[in-house]
Amino acid sequence: MKIVTHKNAYHLALKLGIPIARVKRKRFPDGEIYFRLLEPVDEGIVLASMFPNQNDSLVEILEMVDALDEPIVVISYLAYARQDRKFLSGEAVSSRAIVRAIKYAGASEIFVVEPHSIEALHNIAKPIYVHETLGERISRNVSDPLLVSPDFGRSELVERIAKAYGFDFAFLKKYRDRETGEIITEGEIDARGRNVVIVDDIISTGGTMENAIKIVRDQASSVHVLVIHGLFVDNAYRRIEADSIASTDTVLNAYTKISVAKDILKAIKI
Ligand code: R5P
Repeated sequence: MKIVTHKNAYHLALKLGIPIARVKRKRFPDGEIYFRLLEPVDEGIVLASMFPNQNDSLVEILEMVDALDEPIVVISYLAYARQDRKFLSGEAVSSRAIVRAIKYAGASEIFVVEPHSIEALHNIAKPIYVHETLGERISRNVSDPLLVSPDFGRSELVERIAKAYGFDFAFLKKYRDRETGEIITEGEIDARGRNVVIVDDIISTGGTMENAIKIVRDQASSVHVLVIHGLFVDNAYRRIEADSIASTDTVLNAYTKISVAKDILKAIKI
């Protein structure tokens, strides 16, 4: 068994304790991507993170799957997952197009670490939930925490962590203008004297987190930010004024402090 890893996931592959296959990648002058295995691989596991360079990552995943014989595919960060349905008529369901393409390329099974929603997997891929790992981190670093979801859509994730560890939790409501992208956050939380941990699955521009912090900041004793997939586009961390920021290693960033390696190993039964 060997891991064939995409370069975005190399840091995570090193933590799995499974040999990493040697490969060659190059880019042709016209921008196309070349992939070759440099050694035979039986029972290959493709490991990939689709950020940064989501579109190239997809092509690389398809090529890695094609080069192997029905590999298991583990995607630590599935790009395009937020477009998991048609919000406006005529839209593409982008996440469906992606998981279908990976399956059709020859994947035997596809696992996705904490997908944005179960719908984004379209009954083709399986989720790897990491709430226990997140809860462990919180219990080691924050005493008597109040977990806050910055958006009703993420309350399921926050509730999973809170229930596994007996933490208090609350949620805010967020609306995003589909045309302008403007984010409005509403809700009241009694955060007086509490150590608040705001948990989200993705930080992209940081707007959602910035709004949530503003709501609890004045009352809370401390505010901590925990994110699974930290994209932090355009230096988004500058918008996040918190006592601590921690991200998992599904996407490598300046706040990668938590590894999901053991969750992946458990899911693929190794
Ligand atoms: C949205 O539903 C997600 O859970 C995140 O809240 C969102 O993607 C964060 O985006 P941004 O950092 O741009 O506000």
